[in-house]
Amino acid sequence: MKALVYHGPRKRAWEEKPKPTIQKPTDAIIRITKTTICGTDLHIMKGDVPEVIEGLILGHEGIGVIEEVGRGVSNFIVGNKVIISCTTSCGSCDACRKGMYSHCETGGWILGHMIDGTQAEYVRIPHADNSLYHYPDDVNEEAMVMLSDILPTGFECGVLKGQIQPGDTVAIVGAGPIGLSALLSAQFFSPAEIIMVDLDENRLNTAKTFGATKLVTNNAIENIMKLTNGKGVDVAIEAVGTSATFDICQSIIAAGGHIANIGIHGKSVELHLEKLWSRNITITTRLLDTVTTSMLLKIVLSGKLQPEKLVTHRFALNEIMKAYDTFGNAAKEKALKVILTN
Ligand SMILES: NC(=O)c1ccc[n+]([C@@H]2O[C@H](COP(=O)([O-])OP(=O)(O)OC[C@H]3O[C@@H](n4cnc5c(N)ncnc54)[C@H](O)[C@@H]3O)[C@@H](O)[C@H]2O)c1
Ligand SMILES: [Zn+2]
Ligand SMILES: [Zn+2]
Repeated sequence: MKALVYHGPRKRAWEEKPKPTIQKPTDAIIRITKTTICGTDLHIMKGDVPEVIEGLILGHEGIGVIEEVGRGVSNFIVGNKVIISCTTSCGSCDACRKGMYSHCETGGWILGHMIDGTQAEYVRIPHADNSLYHYPDDVNEEAMVMLSDILPTGFECGVLKGQIQPGDTVAIVGAGPIGLSALLSAQFFSPAEIIMVDLDENRLNTAKTFGATKLVTNNAIENIMKLTNGKGVDVAIEAVGTSATFDICQSIIAAGGHIANIGIHGKSVELHLEKLWSRNITITTRLLDTVTTSMLLKIVLSGKLQPEKLVTHRFALNEIMKAYDTFGNAAKEKALKVILTN
């Protein structure tokens, strides 16, 4: 089969690899029908995720059709259409029983990280029963791809951790696919204001059509304090992963507020406890657990949420080298999510 293979920092190739086979009775083999590229894949390509070994197939998102199942798989049969969760989980270890699939003792984020991923014609999914989701025939399949990672990430790590309440003023710093997913799902809780912060005007314009009530490009701290009459926001969601954007969040948080960090931080941030200690605030972090995937799927199927709106570019799977170039130049290409169809 063909696959997108990592060959060390800045080196990748679309090349021949052996088709995966069942290794454990709980595995399934999926024929990929659609996959995508994540900002995290770009981090890997830069060499920021050193545990990724040369020769690994990248990708942790996608949908497909079951090609083969191990004898221990009971929820899926050959021919089923499935969403592949980016988080692999056994469902029965201590962490899984606490709902922390991301810390599953024999899973977590392993696809396209520790084991071969989804940017290929076929992929092996361990713990298939708990790591795949059925979806019906008559749906927008691009929306299904958004359920692998970005929609549950924005919702679980941003919206749920931020504990958004009706009437709240919310700021989301970063209008990439994750920040925009948080924007879409924040509206389940009817906040009064959602202020989107980004440097990229094009992404902010998209945010406006997704329900943002205010947009902020520069001087974020000053402008948000002005917009909130000096009070700050009830919930600040960090969806970038830099010291500068974490600093915006801690500078605009109102007394009693929640800062929900989603961004992956490669460097330390400065925490201003000398200002925050008396303000009754909560700071949370989370690695995506995907425990809300079934719930989000129901909402998408009901038509109340249209995550396919995040898709800006489409390619055939064998054009993935070109797709990486486009996605790697997201600002210039006005790219959010790219869909690759096999
Ligand atoms: N916690 C988790 O489990 C989890 C899962 C997936 C992704 N992530 C992380 O979430 C973050 C967002 O992901 P994404 O794919 O949307 O990323 P992205 O790079 O596409 O989007 C980030 C956005 O932040 C904006 N930005 C950068 N610096 C800024 C600044 N100083 N002020 C305002 N805006 C600024 C950029 O213009 C961009 O639009 C990343 O760090 C990603 O690694 C975390
Ligand atoms: Zn991802
Ligand atoms: Zn587990």
